[in-house]
Amino acid sequence: MEMNSLDRIFARRSVRSYSPKVIPEETVVEILSAAMSAPTACDKKTPEFIVLTEKEALATVASFLPNGGFLAVAPLGIVVCGDMNRAHAGELSYMLQDCSAAIQNILLAVSMLGLGACWLGVHPRADRVENITNYLSLPRHVVPVSVISIGFPAAQPEPRKRFFKEHVHFNKW
Ligand SMILES: Cc1cc2nc3c(=O)[nH]c(=O)nc-3n(C[C@H](O)[C@H](O)[C@H](O)COP(=O)(O)O)c2cc1C
Repeated sequence: MEMNSLDRIFARRSVRSYSPKVIPEETVVEILSAAMSAPTACDKKTPEFIVLTEKEALATVASFLPNGGFLAVAPLGIVVCGDMNRAHAGELSYMLQDCSAAIQNILLAVSMLGLGACWLGVHPRADRVENITNYLSLPRHVVPVSVISIGFPAAQPEPRKRFFKEHVHFNKW
């Protein structure tokens, strides 16, 4: 069936179980290109990406994430970090917004490529930030914002289109 242009957005769902099949390197580059094509405040390009492909690294980072144990069985993880030295106006909020835009592009790219992903929260949980910073030897000005688990889906949730009328305000609250 022909998809209309927005159906690709509604088809993106969090995928939390994966087949063990490895993701080709060209695909990883495409996913990262999608991330780097997202907007950043004042075009500061704050996001940095740590690509996890080794089982031990995936399992260790998973152990720091109370709601992300399934990262340990994913073939790929991307730790999205923000470089505070490049953040617009030195503001944490701009860096977090930059990273969030990159993360959403990753999720959409993954879904469009027939893969599955889940956003795993790190910042602002201090223990997760600290553990990941230490394990990945991140410099202090580089903040881990989130981890994305990625793989070929073993189970794919149904597409979902939502509209909450009560969350929409025209012209004033
Ligand atoms: C900031 C953020 C942190 C999240 N952290 C987790 C997480 O730690 N574990 C998880 O399974 N899902 C996590 N999610 C995914 C949400 O649970 C999911 O997007 C939401 O339930 C809606 O489902 P959908 O993505 O299938 O539309 C996170 C999402 C966001 C935006």
